[in-house]
Amino acid sequence: MKTQSQQDRIIIFDTTLRDGEQSPGATLNVDEKLTIARQLARLGVDVIEAGFPFASPGDFEAVQRIAQQVGTVDGPTICGLARATRQDIQAAADALKPAAHPRIHTFIATSDIHLEFKLKKTRKEVVAIAEEMVAFAKSFVADVEFSPEDAGRSDPEFLYEVLERAIAAGATTINIPDTVGYTTPAEFGAIIRGIKENVPNIDNAIISVHGHNDLGLAVANFLEAVKNGARQLECTINGIGERAGNAALEELVMAMHVRRQYFNPFLGRAPESEAALTNIDTRQLYKTSRLVSNLTGMLVQPNKAIVGANAFAHESGIHQDGVLKHKLTYEIMDATSIGLTDNQIVLGKHSGRNAFRTRLKELGYELADQELNRAFLRFKELCDHKKEVTDWDLEAIVNDESQQVPELFKLEHVQVSCGDHARPTATVIMRTLDGQELTDAAIGTGPVDAVYKAINRVVEIPNQLIEFSVQSVTEGIDAMGEVTIRLRHEDRIFSGHAANTDIIVASAHAYINALNRLYASMQRGKSLHPQHGEEVVQPVA
Ligand code: KIV
Ligand code: ZN
Repeated sequence: MKTQSQQDRIIIFDTTLRDGEQSPGATLNVDEKLTIARQLARLGVDVIEAGFPFASPGDFEAVQRIAQQVGTVDGPTICGLARATRQDIQAAADALKPAAHPRIHTFIATSDIHLEFKLKKTRKEVVAIAEEMVAFAKSFVADVEFSPEDAGRSDPEFLYEVLERAIAAGATTINIPDTVGYTTPAEFGAIIRGIKENVPNIDNAIISVHGHNDLGLAVANFLEAVKNGARQLECTINGIGERAGNAALEELVMAMHVRRQYFNPFLGRAPESEAALTNIDTRQLYKTSRLVSNLTGMLVQPNKAIVGANAFAHESGIHQDGVLKHKLTYEIMDATSIGLTDNQIVLGKHSGRNAFRTRLKELGYELADQELNRAFLRFKELCDHKKEVTDWDLEAIVNDESQQVPELFKLEHVQVSCGDHARPTATVIMRTLDGQELTDAAIGTGPVDAVYKAINRVVEIPNQLIEFSVQSVTEGIDAMGEVTIRLRHEDRIFSGHAANTDIIVASAHAYINALNRLYASMQRGKSLHPQHGEEVVQPVA
């Protein structure tokens, strides 16, 4: 039975590490997933969907380590995804064993189009599989979530039947996915209302929503769902995910934070109640966004709500004047509420290790000794090039250092000659894991092209550069440049990221970072996609 406290607040279920990681090129290794999971716990999410354990040994290990290290008694629930098959559910149960609060999330499609073309099953068979597999999941954990995939395009009457049977079999959360991002807010709200009114045992489960942003409506759909009884929102940091992505966590949380008086009555609260609607520490939002962007290589567009670079920038004279007279003339929320500091100058050339460690701790980063040493060296190097080192610079260094890609190739040295009368020429010296020094040189159309050609001559892994972007961390001519690149190898995309005051050096490191990811993934082999992968649906006994 749901308690009052579950009904008058919103559960935030983060699926950055599962659905988010399904974005092309967003692949993370186990250590990076752990780093993000720890930050999600600091952010205060209630549930972390840590992955799809059956997909590959690497995915299994990631879920298991997150369960062990982040899924502590006072930590979040750790969830593993499983198709409605015995082997998937068994893998999820095994990976989740170390978690204090484990959840198995199992799903099967319910729309006619999925039944006919993907599952090749009748409605009767699907209901039976759902019921049987929820019961099987329940034999391992008390907390079972069931999703009828493509619910947004499913026949409502069939949906009610599947949900009723899944709840009767033990599902404690029923999640309604708009898998293809097809519904509009009014329609999605009506689906949730219909479920509340027509599923007889619905009071025994929490209603959750999951939705994709193909029409840019995911967040609006979720807010309408909340008004109609949804109490769990499945979302990702920066809205990353399959195709156009998922509903963005930061947008949902801030909408309900800024407009809580509007939402309060829908949750049975007094309109003027100041109590937060979610458990999220909003001051961790910006940092989480930056971390996820840097590790996945998925850039945040400047005009992105809440965490985009322009979200709190007041460019126009009129706006600046208004904001100076009274902040609320053009701002509905304070930049500090998402953890944006005033970019103050905190450290410089003469700051020692202790000051460095203390400031990082104040910013919420606790580094192990080895990581701290590496980050401190980077900080000292930066002080040689940059007079004023800001919190944002420190974050860029720490984020750069938190990439934990095995360095098969390491850049030792890069040198470029270019100019309006010179042919851009680059020389690189690289070292392999087994200590071999490799060097080569190339001419390119520009300095970055020359560097990349030289690196390719050394590395000899065929690839195609498909995206290159440079952003400055702070203002000023001596600012650090952050380079993010994406490259394609066969049918897969890999990203790379690096920061340096010299953008050519950053470009070289970002490229090698992506090549190292590519190489690591060639060694690991492929992961199975939970939705498009080969179907291994278990026949009903
Ligand atoms: O979009 C979707 O339907 C999903 C399910 C696995 C919940 O991601
Ligand atoms: Zn999804």
